[in-house]
Amino acid sequence: MKNLVLYLAGSLLLMFGNNSFLMSNNKKMITKDINLAVQQIGRQVDIIEQSSTFLNPRTVNDNKIQYIPSDDWTSGFFPGTMWHMYDLTGAEKWKKYAVKYTLRLDSIKYMTCHHDIGFIIGCSYGNAYRITKNPTYKAVIIEAAKSLSTRFRPAAGVIQSWDENRGWQAKRAWMCPVIIDNMMNLELLFKASDLSGDASFKKIAISHADQTMVNHFRKDYSCYHVVDYDKVKGGVRSKCTAQGYSNESAWARGQAWALYGYTICYRETKDKKYLDFVSRIYNYIFSNKNMPDDLVPYWDFNAPNIPNEPRDASAAAVMASALYELSTLGKPEYKKTADKIMESLSGPAYLAIVGTNSNFLLMHSVGSIPHGNEIDVPLNYADYYFLEALAKKRNLEKH
Ligand code: GLY
Repeated sequence: MKNLVLYLAGSLLLMFGNNSFLMSNNKKMITKDINLAVQQIGRQVDIIEQSSTFLNPRTVNDNKIQYIPSDDWTSGFFPGTMWHMYDLTGAEKWKKYAVKYTLRLDSIKYMTCHHDIGFIIGCSYGNAYRITKNPTYKAVIIEAAKSLSTRFRPAAGVIQSWDENRGWQAKRAWMCPVIIDNMMNLELLFKASDLSGDASFKKIAISHADQTMVNHFRKDYSCYHVVDYDKVKGGVRSKCTAQGYSNESAWARGQAWALYGYTICYRETKDKKYLDFVSRIYNYIFSNKNMPDDLVPYWDFNAPNIPNEPRDASAAAVMASALYELSTLGKPEYKKTADKIMESLSGPAYLAIVGTNSNFLLMHSVGSIPHGNEIDVPLNYADYYFLEALAKKRNLEKH
């Protein structure tokens, strides 16, 4: 009996001892990452503030920071990064920049020429409203949702992502191309319905999510990048890729957008079918034989020269952020996976030393290999989702 008591006491000590060790390591990692971000992102802001124009950093090209105009699909991420920095540090200086850079995107609320208004306004004004609850941000979110809704094609039941007759996609003879990335833009519509009381935005979001479930996914729950619909008669014309390795391959960031997109759908509707679906997407991604041990995927799960293919840290960061949220929505076991991704991204293989990597946080992301663009580079959205995941992790570790 005495031995049993000693054994139980020893086991408890070991259990709690280990747990608190893990907790303190987690907290140390979070503090280290925040301190590094304060310095590194601070250097980006210094450059912007010293210039006389609005510079919005996206990536690095030929060793030069590439700044982008407000209608670029990534223009909301840097203002959103400011909001994450404010959220993570509580320092007013970040709020000042967050407000200033967010307001510079005001005119985008009227943009109807592509679907990325969801990313742009969601990451800037969406975070602004989430964090401050200032009603002046509401009107922009609702106006932007109206603009996005103009791209809804009722016959097909989806939002058209890209115009079929503009830019490089004009060469593909598509009629109504929808990319899996579009799932991320639905958050703007859900939020706009909540804020305005107008259910039509939410209805469009649900229609898009449901059509995408039926048409974008294969039997193994990997997804196509592009599905082209017939916007007059409805129905699917073709399924293919733009940024993946091949039409039948699983482009890593596309799988990440799908995971995050259906997480949003479950959060906003509480419809269990989305949670079931997202768990199947999870299984595809994290049981994949080509997923490396550090859980930072190659740019495409079917890239031909794995393991000699570039990784995509941006996809890993998007996945981590989605998984932290899912861990609070009935999938607590996913937190371990998110923690493992964050441990990798916070290590020297991916997180840059202050003053290197052109002042971006993460190294080793991929924009689009088929277009020969942004291969093994830093990207503003990798940093954005990394900080978002870090803030979610910090909140979870508090409990
Ligand atoms: N939404 C474009 C991309 O993920 O590259």
